[in-house]
Amino acid sequence: MNKATEAFDQGKLVAMPTETVYGLAAPIDRPELLKKIFTLKERPFFDPLIVHVKDADQAKTLVNNWPELASRLVKAFWPGPLTLVFEKNPKVISDMITSGLTTVAIRCPKHELALNLITDLGVPVAAPSANKFGKTSPTTIDHVKSEFSEKDVYFLDGGSCEVGIESTILSIESNKVTVLRRGLISEDDIKPYLKSGEVIEYHNSHEVIAPGQVKHHYMPKIPLLFFRVKPTSELIKLEAQKLSLMPASTGKKIDLSNDAKIAARTLYSSMRDLSETGSDFLYCYIPKEKDKDPNWLGIIDRLQKASKIEVTEPAQS
Ligand code: TXA
Ligand code: MG
Repeated sequence: MNKATEAFDQGKLVAMPTETVYGLAAPIDRPELLKKIFTLKERPFFDPLIVHVKDADQAKTLVNNWPELASRLVKAFWPGPLTLVFEKNPKVISDMITSGLTTVAIRCPKHELALNLITDLGVPVAAPSANKFGKTSPTTIDHVKSEFSEKDVYFLDGGSCEVGIESTILSIESNKVTVLRRGLISEDDIKPYLKSGEVIEYHNSHEVIAPGQVKHHYMPKIPLLFFRVKPTSELIKLEAQKLSLMPASTGKKIDLSNDAKIAARTLYSSMRDLSETGSDFLYCYIPKEKDKDPNWLGIIDRLQKASKIEVTEPAQS
């Protein structure tokens, strides 16, 4: 932990394990390190960062307004994979962190090393996922090491991430909760904490509400085809040709567990590993019926954004 906090003084960022994915962290009061997050990630400055805190009390020091509904959600889900968007306190949260927005996204990660780092430092850290912009998020320290070098980043190894996909992001306005990014915590998980008159809605991110909610994201090194109907060999071949892949090109299937929690945990590792096997493309199949199961929606969202094509119709013969 000492080494990690010292790394900041040497001008490095810290690869910080969290329960969702690894983050690339810098203290919120170090503008030169915050800037380095964007340059190392090759991330556009219009994409705001999530601030990670040790607890709700620390979060309250960063915002101008703390709705009572936030207290209920935080009590139920922090530490954990839930990010909340608040009106920011501009004295402590710079425009570098929020890309000029008047709001700030905050979460309290459920990982001992992350919590120790923030506690020892005494300052919250801003951290996006520790991958190059638009690419697959890392769920092990080796994933981070494959994209960043030791001269820029101190690698804090906290094992494999338990959740495996990024946190659920919610914004709160008076009586309405808006889901900006789906994750392990679903709309159904939130509902029991809402009072009568309060509603929760999913905002389809294709309409772009927040910077960073871009369509192509989480992309593996080779093209990914996302099948919502059974991928027969005929259909796979047909769709691969649409991507101008050669008729003889080979695809590797990302096999997912039937258990959504396990599927989320292994998704990004499988995407990375199978990208390295010399195949020309990847494909994955999640039947359309799974859209009705809230536990699968975060996973389906990531595959839609990571894929070149989503195939919803069987082959016409
Ligand atoms: O699980 C996670 O959330 C991981 C770990 C490291 O904590 N972090 C993560 O960060 O996924 P990142 O940078 O890959 O995604 C952050 C996204 C932004 O792209 C943006 O969509 C949203 O959070 N965001 C950040 N600040 C926001 C704001 N003020 N309003 C709306 N959305 C915001
Ligand atoms: Mg990311």
